[in-house]
Amino acid sequence: MATVLSVSGSPSPTSRTTRLLRHVDARLAAHGHRVVPFEVRSLPAEALLAADTSHPELARALDLFGQADGVVIGTPVYKAAYSGLLKALLDVLPQYALAGKTVLPLATGGSTAHVLAVDYALRPVLASMGAEHITQGWFVLDRHIGVREDGSTAVERETDVLLTPVVDAFAAALDRRSRPAGGKAPEPVLAG
Ligand SMILES: Cc1cc2nc3c(=O)[nH]c(=O)nc-3n(C[C@H](O)[C@H](O)[C@H](O)COP(=O)(O)O)c2cc1C
Repeated sequence: MATVLSVSGSPSPTSRTTRLLRHVDARLAAHGHRVVPFEVRSLPAEALLAADTSHPELARALDLFGQADGVVIGTPVYKAAYSGLLKALLDVLPQYALAGKTVLPLATGGSTAHVLAVDYALRPVLASMGAEHITQGWFVLDRHIGVREDGSTAVERETDVLLTPVVDAFAAALDRRSRPAGGKAPEPVLAG
């Protein structure tokens, strides 16, 4: 079992990106991984913008990165790139905070015109932080992430059909690094 930190970089309280990530988290948990959901917007803004890593909440966020075997990085596309909020957090992490980790980049956006933001904007930043393995990323249109009457998330079927193998490939990459040859898959766990 690997520990996966699942980070949403949207500032929105009704974020589609966060919904997408929680959908992905459930699949990773079903693969037997321990998932720790995290929203950058939960961090104290003043400490984040002042890069005050002595603040307990920022220090905790840094610890969560340190303890993770895998990291899902989700961001809305803003101005053809990632969100400033996500970058603010990445900037306070150590230079090689992703060293030895497996990383899945995901983005949501309003237009397919910016589908390449995942590979041309986000991926190079993650690579510069020493990520051992960045698996195939994915872009999802915001209108393909819906909310059901009961408040649960509905990912458009065709989108989910394409997203699922991307998530499964990330889960398999985590398996390869964390499971001894011939080892048995552990029970799924969703951490709070
Ligand atoms: C400030 C801002 C800039 C945006 N820029 C783009 C953009 O350049 N390309 C794009 O496809 N969508 C853009 N969008 C749309 C968002 O990426 C899209 O709605 C996304 O799913 C929002 O995610 P969220 O609900 O998690 O915040 C922008 C939205 C905002 C608020």
